[in-house]
Amino acid sequence: MAGFSFTATAGTCDGADLALVARTEGTPLYVYSRASIEQRYRALDAALAAHPHRIHYALKANSTRGLLEILRAAGAGVDANSGGEIAVARRAGFAPDDIVFTGVGKSAAELEAAVAADLHAINAESAGELERIDRIAQARGVRARVAVRVNPDIDAASHPGISTGGRGHKFGVPIDDARRVCREAAARPGLRLVGVHAHVGSQMTRLDPVRRTASTVAAFAGELRDDGVALEHLDLGGGLGISYDGAPAVDVGDYGRTLLGAVAPTGLRLLVEPGRWIVGPTAVLLTTVVDVKPQSGDRHFVVVDAGMSELMRPALYDAYHRIEPVAPRTGPYATCDVVGPLCETTDVVGLGRRMVLPEVGDLLAVLDAGAYGSAMASNYNRHPLPAEALVDGGDWRLVRRRQTVDDLLACEPAAPASEVLPRALPRVSR
Ligand code: LLP
Repeated sequence: MAGFSFTATAGTCDGADLALVARTEGTPLYVYSRASIEQRYRALDAALAAHPHRIHYALKANSTRGLLEILRAAGAGVDANSGGEIAVARRAGFAPDDIVFTGVGKSAAELEAAVAADLHAINAESAGELERIDRIAQARGVRARVAVRVNPDIDAASHPGISTGGRGHKFGVPIDDARRVCREAAARPGLRLVGVHAHVGSQMTRLDPVRRTASTVAAFAGELRDDGVALEHLDLGGGLGISYDGAPAVDVGDYGRTLLGAVAPTGLRLLVEPGRWIVGPTAVLLTTVVDVKPQSGDRHFVVVDAGMSELMRPALYDAYHRIEPVAPRTGPYATCDVVGPLCETTDVVGLGRRMVLPEVGDLLAVLDAGAYGSAMASNYNRHPLPAEALVDGGDWRLVRRRQTVDDLLACEPAAPASEVLPRALPRVSR
């Protein structure tokens, strides 16, 4: 298995010494395993091989261009959620026909650009959006390829913040209205209704919601066929969960069989939009201990140089990520609250971890950080976005350099010379 290994003496990624990578590139640093990305893509592709399908990798999970080039070479298409993601995908070499465009609030400019580009499908979220796409397409004298996102009212049994398929959620057309909306869309001269789309949530660790979504959408496609609407594909979104704590996760083969069991009888092509499952386990976030301070008993704060500005998931969803020392030290175990340097109490990496008490300067690896890690990073507290390294064949290269202060200020007007800080501080008379 490609990826990361932590032993009593070292942490490595496909033969590369993580301590050396961190020493060379600095921390905080994302480190990806190219071999692991390829392996996971191929495993999912193989799980769906019995039926015509395409994997449209969800760019929102991580759209660092160096990773996209790997996935494109492996055969992936992409799911974009904004004009920015579409532009990045195009620059990574994806053709318009490789792209589906999802998103609950597509702007007029984004829709214009999407119709002009003739994407594989625009996954429309409402009757109003279908009407807007129709108008744009008619004005251009084309027919836009659209899929209708249905909201099947299915509980993803995941964290409430990343569940999207319930009646009260903002996403898609309620399943009860969807037949009428699809029939109307199919009749519009500027639209070609090619698919039905559903995505009920992320980090699903049970197959039951996957099965129910797939069979609901497949049954719905049957109703549309009875209405004389001939679709090309069913897009069942992403959402397959990974194990963040090391316990066994849903088997990708079982996931594939579950989807195909519902979709194969329709004869329609299957599209999926996985993000996390493909890239989540393929990266660690390396971070350096900058302070250690006692609380009570054997409990300590271990302050590290990465926090919610680099990996927001623990602060936002109470998410759990394993934390491994990269060069383990011996000594007594302690209970460690591993926290970031930002001025927020929610700025944590992992609380209550039993580990040998680290020392200042030690390197820690935060595991399974490949999805929604760098993609959700911010400049809060003027933290520069971290560097990202891709390990490839035992060596590594940067796929993203660390931001500089000049990068941080690049969008702001330059300060007039008179406002630039004087070299010496003015003398203050007391
Ligand atoms: N398709 C659509 C329409 C989506 O909204 C999403 C994720 C995906 C595909 C990919 O889902 P995945 O396979 O990665 O589960 N920031 C959160 C996750 C938000 C997911 C949003 N939508 C986190 O860190 O857990």
